[in-house]
Amino acid sequence: MLYGIVIVKPKIVARLIDELDLKGNEKILDVGCGRGIFLIEMAKHLPNGQACAIDLWFLKDQSGNAIEKALANARAEQLNDRIEVQTADMQSLPYSNETFDVVVSSLSIHNIPSIHGRNKALGEILRVLKRGGRFVVLDIQHVKQYAAFINQTKEAEVTCSPCIYRYCPPLRILRGRKNTDSL
Ligand SMILES: C[S@@+](CC[C@H](N)C(=O)[O-])C[C@H]1O[C@@H](n2cnc3c(N)ncnc32)[C@H](O)[C@@H]1O
Repeated sequence: MLYGIVIVKPKIVARLIDELDLKGNEKILDVGCGRGIFLIEMAKHLPNGQACAIDLWFLKDQSGNAIEKALANARAEQLNDRIEVQTADMQSLPYSNETFDVVVSSLSIHNIPSIHGRNKALGEILRVLKRGGRFVVLDIQHVKQYAAFINQTKEAEVTCSPCIYRYCPPLRILRGRKNTDSL
């Protein structure tokens, strides 16, 4: 598990950011950022953009989880001027419709116990994404359900990866793009 967290997860995050091929001026959101691994790596690629994040900082989900820790990690990388972190529930995101170019979420949505709550969080991700905006969700459970829910909304194109067994527990990656036209 430690190998997964220290070696595999940073490699997966770096590859996903490469795939996004950011221009550097995007506005991105990390949903359930914890100490900020995805947030901070994304912010490094956004010299003219902004990296936002929310979390409820549950200690049961990540050790040392605190907004101060995420902000301290951003400061340590001298990225605090392009990072904005808030305390909020992913089931009710504190942003207007169509705010972000990219939304990411890593190992967070499965922590919501009910399918209703998880779908609410996915619906919020779609709501705050701009039309044509992209999302990447990695998680260790329910990822096929996430894809099924998003397909059902007809709001986005989505693909679900096979299980990645290098991480323990194995995870899947959901990649998608919000449709440019409303149906
Ligand atoms: C396993 S940690 C992952 C943190 C980080 N994304 C990473 O990959 O290292 C899961 C995170 O989801 C957060 N979380 C759980 N339920 C949440 C909710 N309803 N709203 C916002 N954050 C939540 C937890 O506080 C925790 O920081």
